[in-house]
Amino acid sequence: MQNKKHLVIAIDGPSGTGKSTTAKLIAKNLGLTYLDTGAMYRAITFAALSAKITPDNKEDLDQLLQSTTIDFDSENQVWVNGICREEEIRGAEVSKVVSIYSAIPAVRMALTEKQRQIGQKQNCILDGRDIGTVVFPHADYKFFLVTDIQVRARRRFLECQEKGISMTLEEIEKNLSERDLLDSSRETAPLKKAPDAIEIDTTQLSIQEQVKKIQDYVGVVA
Ligand code: DC
Repeated sequence: MQNKKHLVIAIDGPSGTGKSTTAKLIAKNLGLTYLDTGAMYRAITFAALSAKITPDNKEDLDQLLQSTTIDFDSENQVWVNGICREEEIRGAEVSKVVSIYSAIPAVRMALTEKQRQIGQKQNCILDGRDIGTVVFPHADYKFFLVTDIQVRARRRFLECQEKGISMTLEEIEKNLSERDLLDSSRETAPLKKAPDAIEIDTTQLSIQEQVKKIQDYVGVVA
């Protein structure tokens, strides 16, 4: 690994490419802070749904962005306004509309700011859609993960089953395709590979192989 004072690793890509599992393991292996930026977009979406604030209600959304606290505990579970909401933010209700709230410029501005504040303070690995392009365009290492849609849906389906979230494989594949389209076609900070990011196709890779590939680039073998 580079002998630098401050290290930032950006991992971007669509849902279900294994970004968060990979990033979490690398964080543990290399002693970095892990930041799940998707969880932050899910948290604010959950807060908006709970307060019945629609995406077109700019005024109430602005207030919500200022008043909502989003924290992570030591197990990376998400707390919204002091209550653990890990289960709710991963559920079907939030998954269905998170890309709509994520496309709102005010939401992006507020969360980007929070992500920079966290990332500037410590060595960290962040996963999301716009980390290498917008949040940390000067990140030390940038990776862009891609995976076949059916493999992604299958992985997400198994994850949901493990967590007791009831969604069919078909529902998950449809949700992933819709989110891919919304996330990559929005005007502000769309999902796209940074020109200097290393693309990794994870379709045929296990999580351990993904971890090793990235750590090999960073200079540390798992
Ligand atoms: O990584 P995830 O599937 O939990 O992310 C949920 C949604 O959040 C995703 O569909 C798009 C949005 N998102 C984003 O717009 N920018 C990020 N940096 C991370 C996630």
